Amino acid sequence: MKQDIKEVLIDETQIQNKNSELGKIISEHYRGEKLTVICILKGAIMFMSDLIKNIDVPLEIDFMDVSSYGEGTTSSGVVKIIKDLDASIEDKNILIVEDIIDSGLTLSYLMKILKSRGPKSIEICTLLDKPTGRKIDIDVKYVGFTVPDAFLVGYGLDYSEKYRNLPYIGILKENVYR
Ligand code: PRP
Ligand code: MN
Ligand code: MG
Repeated sequence: MKQDIKEVLIDETQIQNKNSELGKIISEHYRGEKLTVICILKGAIMFMSDLIKNIDVPLEIDFMDVSSYGEGTTSSGVVKIIKDLDASIEDKNILIVEDIIDSGLTLSYLMKILKSRGPKSIEICTLLDKPTGRKIDIDVKYVGFTVPDAFLVGYGLDYSEKYRNLPYIGILKENVYR
């Protein structure tokens, strides 16, 4: 585990400070409203569970699994729904929570589907934004950190389904995936 990490890019304290900061901004934005927070499995689990502790409006959570990556390190561009939401989002305020936006293909596809279901509002909150990877434009309302073009793992992010349990965002050593 730890021996596979070249460098800690964002440590636990920085992440939790950001969660608190984002939680305050989001609470202000939805003040007096109800909110449904959608976690995009699996990468966003840690971020969503920590983020919602900092959101102070009545909220519900739901989960969706849309996968664009296989076992490799780069996006295949193939996006499929593995698990759909449990509840209808019609006339609801929706906040989509992601761990990272890279090519933007996953969210661009997802936004098209979810907007067609008639939500009252729909916004995106991502912990990490990697603009150098972008293949399609995405309108993101809340961004935690802008990150460089490195292979990141931890705090939900995986390589080949591993490293999600690290409490920080780390850069994976090249010899692990090459
Ligand atoms: C990763 C990540 C984002 C998406 C970002 O998920 O968690 O959901 O890729 O990539 P993109 O902007 O290029 O589409 P992945 O498909 O690997 O599934 P996972 O969350 O289960 O790891
Ligand atoms: Mn994901
Ligand atoms: Mg993944």
